Amino acid sequence: MHAGHGQVIELSSEGGNTQARIACPANLIPAPGQYLLAGSASPLDPLPVPLFSTESTPFGFTAAPPVPSAWMPGTNLSLRGPLGRGFTLPHTARKVALIPFDDDASRLRGLMVPSLNQGAAVVLLGDSDMGNLPDAVEVQPFTALEEVLAWAEYAAFDVLRESLPGLSKRLGGSNWAAAGKEAQVLVQTPIPCGGIGECAVCAVTFKSGWKLACKEGPVFDWEEVFA
Ligand code: FES
Repeated sequence: MHAGHGQVIELSSEGGNTQARIACPANLIPAPGQYLLAGSASPLDPLPVPLFSTESTPFGFTAAPPVPSAWMPGTNLSLRGPLGRGFTLPHTARKVALIPFDDDASRLRGLMVPSLNQGAAVVLLGDSDMGNLPDAVEVQPFTALEEVLAWAEYAAFDVLRESLPGLSKRLGGSNWAAAGKEAQVLVQTPIPCGGIGECAVCAVTFKSGWKLACKEGPVFDWEEVFA
């Protein structure tokens, strides 16, 4: 974990949401699924906010929406991170499914280029405008979920904490480990303290007990979430 400074370079719209290009030292760039805590001097944003990367850029990264509305190009940021546990893309995976259960693919986009670079075919599920994607990424509607999961060797989910029961119900007790597949789940929660204050606002309850998304996640293995 590092601490340093960054700056908002550019704001842009992606799929109707505002994302921010952030300049920062290389050692602060979060890997897919990890996050930074970012604070500005603005009195409108007194608390730091978690930033997830959609893609690395030459001098930083592009932060997934939402970003604070007070941020403008030139806003200086204090940054702490990378924090949390990110995705672990199996290097043998040649069929990768990206599944934003709540229809926001931004936190999964960082897996696209690494997957394509290792020769994998990538399918993204979504029913809304997914913005600019690499040409090789295939988009399928959410009705194809079961078909895509049967095809995939590795699946990465992004789901709101409150949507976990709905995801479990939709999947109907699929046993990925028994099928020789791997899957991971990014569980979205508020992350106000990043584990420093042990506020437990980010706690996620699983059958085996509760875990802190800020430190033990926000990416969990499939077995941790649904076993
Ligand atoms: S965000 Fe405070 S303990 Fe996780």
